[in-house]
Amino acid sequence: MSELKPIKEGKVREVYDNGDSIIMVATDRISAFDVILKNKIVNKGAILTQMSRFWFDYTKDILPNHMISVDVKDMPEFFQKEEYKGNAMMCKKLTMLPIECIVRGYITGTGWQSYQKDGTVCGISLPAGLKESDKLPEPNYTPTTKADLGDHDEHITFADTVAILEKEFPGRGEELATALRDNTLALYKKCADYALTCGIIIADTKFEFGLDDKGQLVLGDEMLTPDSSRFWPAKGYEPGKSQPSFDKQFVRDWLKANPDSDYFLPEDVIAKTIEKYEEAYQLLTKKPFVKG
Ligand SMILES: Nc1ncnc2c1ncn2[C@@H]1O[C@H](COP(=O)(O)OP(=O)(O)O)[C@@H](O)[C@H]1O
Ligand SMILES: [Mg+2]
Repeated sequence: MSELKPIKEGKVREVYDNGDSIIMVATDRISAFDVILKNKIVNKGAILTQMSRFWFDYTKDILPNHMISVDVKDMPEFFQKEEYKGNAMMCKKLTMLPIECIVRGYITGTGWQSYQKDGTVCGISLPAGLKESDKLPEPNYTPTTKADLGDHDEHITFADTVAILEKEFPGRGEELATALRDNTLALYKKCADYALTCGIIIADTKFEFGLDDKGQLVLGDEMLTPDSSRFWPAKGYEPGKSQPSFDKQFVRDWLKANPDSDYFLPEDVIAKTIEKYEEAYQLLTKKPFVKG
């Protein structure tokens, strides 16, 4: 059996090349305040992969997505191991578009900071009098460039998006930029409305799209996981302050209270965090999480 090396190793995910397909593996690593913690959150990777799988199924009528299989039996022999059960997704290999398609339904984070300065978020003027974490009148599409490692993603206008895409795909800039915006908003609206009925506010998220071998637009990457989105518990939601993170609040609170911890968490914080991932999965899919 040949040893496979990831073609890309991110903070929490690994990507393997498999010819016409790729295998995306979500590990049990967790980051907080942009640092990888020393502990593993057991089953986090599998839960996030299964969550993406749920959303890809739920939205395939809006746009095709890259998911092929989450069953390791369909994958090369290298992945037929316990450590890849449930957390590996085989996906159609796409030519990725260099745009991070961000959509915000609520005002928080850098959007809230910018609004306090001048009443705008990424160049979009918003009504006066919004409070921190308020729901926006309409979800806002605020794309950024997809910067190389180390560089910062930059906010871009719709016209910038057209220009960037036109350069890479001559004759298709306008069409693709429009499709990115419209699909991002449609996907977010359908899923955020559904999540709310399950007790979860999806405050914002990021999608990535690519083109398949026929040049058709396809949704790629992970989808609506707490790693690519802000999940807030709907219970206790109250604008006028920052909201707790559905999954990482225990971790963040503990790290803030223990600045000398060297990013090693005690067992009870790990256990409570694992429970939060399982709870999010169960609320959204209406099924308990079972590995494998
Ligand atoms: N279907 C796909 N085909 C090819 N590349 C993909 C596909 N889906 C996602 N990707 C890319 O795989 C990578 C996933 O790596 P990730 O760990 O998220 O790191 P980063 O976001 O920092 O690049 C991203 O570069 C993403 O654009
Ligand atoms: Mg990424």
